[in-house]
Amino acid sequence: MPLICFASPKGGVGKTTLSANVADLLRQSGRTALALDLDPQNALRLHFGVPPGDLGGFNGQLPRRPDWRAALRQAASGTLLLPHGAVELRDALEHNAALERDPGLLATPLREMLADPRVVVVADMPPGPSQALAILMPMAALVVTVLQSEAISAAMLGEIEAGRFLGNGTMAALFAGRLQFVLNGVDLDSRLSRNAAEAVARHLGPRLLGAVSRDEAVGEALAAQRLVHEMAPDSRAAADLRQVARAIEALLPPPAPAPAPWRAAELLDARKAPRMATAWSVPEWGTR
Ligand SMILES: Nc1ncnc2c1ncn2[C@@H]1O[C@H](COP(=O)(O)OP(=O)(O)OP(=O)(O)O)[C@@H](O)[C@H]1O
Ligand SMILES: [Mg+2]
Repeated sequence: MPLICFASPKGGVGKTTLSANVADLLRQSGRTALALDLDPQNALRLHFGVPPGDLGGFNGQLPRRPDWRAALRQAASGTLLLPHGAVELRDALEHNAALERDPGLLATPLREMLADPRVVVVADMPPGPSQALAILMPMAALVVTVLQSEAISAAMLGEIEAGRFLGNGTMAALFAGRLQFVLNGVDLDSRLSRNAAEAVARHLGPRLLGAVSRDEAVGEALAAQRLVHEMAPDSRAAADLRQVARAIEALLPPPAPAPAPWRAAELLDARKAPRMATAWSVPEWGTR
C-alpha cells in the first residue's frame, strides 16, 4: 500500500543506494517490496544483480503505455523490481512531455501497484524536481530526502527543509510536511562532515530518520551488484541502513495480510520462468 520516494536536491548523494537497500530490508520485515526506478540512469537494477545487458524496463517506455506487470523482475532475495529501462535522448525528452500532457501514464500504474495492501513501493527518483516526483508526491506516504553530510547541506538547510527543491512554490508548500530526511556519507574522521551532520541533526530533530556512514562496503557491494547487507552484513553501513529501514518501517501502517489484487507471487509463478542459479529468478522478463 504505501509509497516511499527517495528524492534529493542534489545528485550523487545516495538515493539509489538507499532505495535498493531499504526496499530489500522492508521485504525482510514482512512486506512485499517493489523497487521502482524512475531515473533514466537505469542504475537501481545494478544493486539487485540484473545483468548489465538486460536493458528492459518500465518507466522509459511510459509513452507507449507498457504493462508494468510484464516488466517486473524478481531478485533472488524476493524483492520485486521495475527497472527504468535504457532510453535514447529523444525518448527521454518525449517522456517528460508525455508525462506533462498525461500524468495518468504514471499515476494509473502506480495506483494499481499500491492497491495491493501488502506491497510497499520504493521509488528511486532522479535528482532535483521532476515531473515524475510531482505526480507521485500526492500518493506518497513519505518523501525521504537524502542529504550528504557536507557543507552545502548545512548551508542550504532552510531551502531544503521548505521543500523548495521539489519544484515550484505550491508543490513545496503542499508536501513539505511529508518530507523526512536521511544523512548519507557521514565521515566521523572529517571535522567538516561531523559538523555538517551535527548542524543538520540539530535543525531537523525527529524528521532526521537516520544517518549512514561513509563506508567502502557500499561501493564494494555495488561493484559486486549486491546489496550492502548481503555483501557486508557486519559493516557499519549495513547497520546504519538497517536503522534507517527500521525508522521508515515505524512510520508506515502495518503490512496487511489481505489477498493482493494483483498477487505478485502468483503473477511471477504463472510465468513459469526457469529458476536460475544467478541472482535473478526471472532474468529476461521485460524483453519478451
Ligand atoms: N554511505 C556511502 N559510503 C560510501 N559510498 C557511498 C555511500 N552512499 C553512496 N555511495 C556511493 O556514491 C555513489 C553515488 O550513490 P548513488 O548512486 O546511490 O547516488 P544517487 O543520489 O542515486 O545519484 P544520482 O543523483 O546520480 O542518481 C555510488 O558510487 C555509491 O556507491
Ligand atoms: Mg540514483
